[in-house]
Amino acid sequence: MSAPTLNRALWQDQPHIPGTIRDSKLPSTDELDEHKILIKVHAWAINPCDYMLQDRDIPGFGYPIILGCDVAGTVVAISPTSRFRIGDRVFGVTANNGFQEYVTLDERLMARIPDNSNLEFRDTVGFGLCIVTAAMLLFGKDWLNLDFPSLGVRIPKSAKIILIWGGSSAVGSNAIQLVTAAGYNAIVTCSAANFDYVKRLGAVDAFNYKDPDVAEKVAAALFNSECECAGILMAAGLKAGNDGVCKVAAALEQKQTQTQKQKQKQINFTTSDLLDPLDQVPENLVLKKPDLASFKPFPECYFDTTTATFGGFLPEALEKGVYQVAPPPLVVNKKGLEGIQEAIDLQRLIGEKGYEAFKEAAVNVSGAGGGAVLPAKLVVERS
Ligand SMILES: NC(=O)c1ccc[n+]([C@@H]2O[C@H](COP(=O)([O-])OP(=O)(O)OC[C@H]3O[C@@H](n4cnc5c(N)ncnc54)[C@H](OP(=O)(O)O)[C@@H]3O)[C@@H](O)[C@H]2O)c1
Repeated sequence: MSAPTLNRALWQDQPHIPGTIRDSKLPSTDELDEHKILIKVHAWAINPCDYMLQDRDIPGFGYPIILGCDVAGTVVAISPTSRFRIGDRVFGVTANNGFQEYVTLDERLMARIPDNSNLEFRDTVGFGLCIVTAAMLLFGKDWLNLDFPSLGVRIPKSAKIILIWGGSSAVGSNAIQLVTAAGYNAIVTCSAANFDYVKRLGAVDAFNYKDPDVAEKVAAALFNSECECAGILMAAGLKAGNDGVCKVAAALEQKQTQTQKQKQKQINFTTSDLLDPLDQVPENLVLKKPDLASFKPFPECYFDTTTATFGGFLPEALEKGVYQVAPPPLVVNKKGLEGIQEAIDLQRLIGEKGYEAFKEAAVNVSGAGGGAVLPAKLVVERS
């Protein structure tokens, strides 16, 4: 494989404007430090943070910057100690810098696409940020600190419960699969239309977060269960999601007071909304997040839990066919870096106006044509 000589990127020159495509520096092989690999990108996936970062003036960001986290492609250069080989088909995550044709990545957050699978770049690219986020929040010792997933785990009758608020989001879809593989029972909230979807991923029960009585119903499910709730993950919805969890806690508190049963008093709670601080929660929740001093920067914060993701469980489970690509990819028709801004705009539409608005706008998305299959992960392929 010949060494690449040219690179291009989607540059964010300042906040609040679309990205601009122009040249970007290509590192030479001897510039690759330990753990670093260079890949030729064949697919990018879009995350809510791509539009959120585009729309915010983040203090400390020295513009111009390159956004983008999820990439899949072929390895074109490695450091001498790398566990990868030139030509390997890989997928993974970088903390921004991904919207380029060639990207340097930390190989601890990359995995090979299993050879024996039918998986393409477009299938694996969407795992990136959502699975490392789910794993950090669920298994990180400063977060929910749950048992790690492994192959062949059987869920005992007395399995503890994990409540996942937003089970059909990308983070939630992976959280369901990870906690199930760790031996927990996942109870989730999502739209009623996605009940079957989350149950296919392993959820044992699902509640519609748009139901005005959802807090009461989820609290009743937790209260009436013989099994302890080992944690709550807010995996979608930002402030509305955090509020939803707090209402469940308040409803649970009332039940506990009313019956004066010796039930579990406090439940660990963590949230995927890291942008807006949440410091106060009802007394029966314990907010789990690292204090400022031990908060590791991206992407180092994901390294402690790679045995649940790229460094272990994920590629093994994909190879054995026991882990699902969820949400499935929805490939934007426009290819290459040229398609990325359009995909970011569609992601923004989903985040700000919901899927109904997205369906109307999504005529340029493969498989959409006004009737897109959702949940989905927006993906752009190389031209
Ligand atoms: N901090 C980090 O490092 C990090 C990294 C990644 C993601 N995140 C955050 O994690 C969250 C999820 O990201 P994602 O990529 O997984 O999002 P996503 O896939 O775009 O999630 C969209 C889904 O969220 C669900 N949802 C929206 N509002 C909800 C609510 N109030 N309650 C329950 N579900 C709700 C909807 O499900 P239905 O279709 O079923 O209605 C919607 O389809 C976002 O807030 C994102 O900012 C944080």
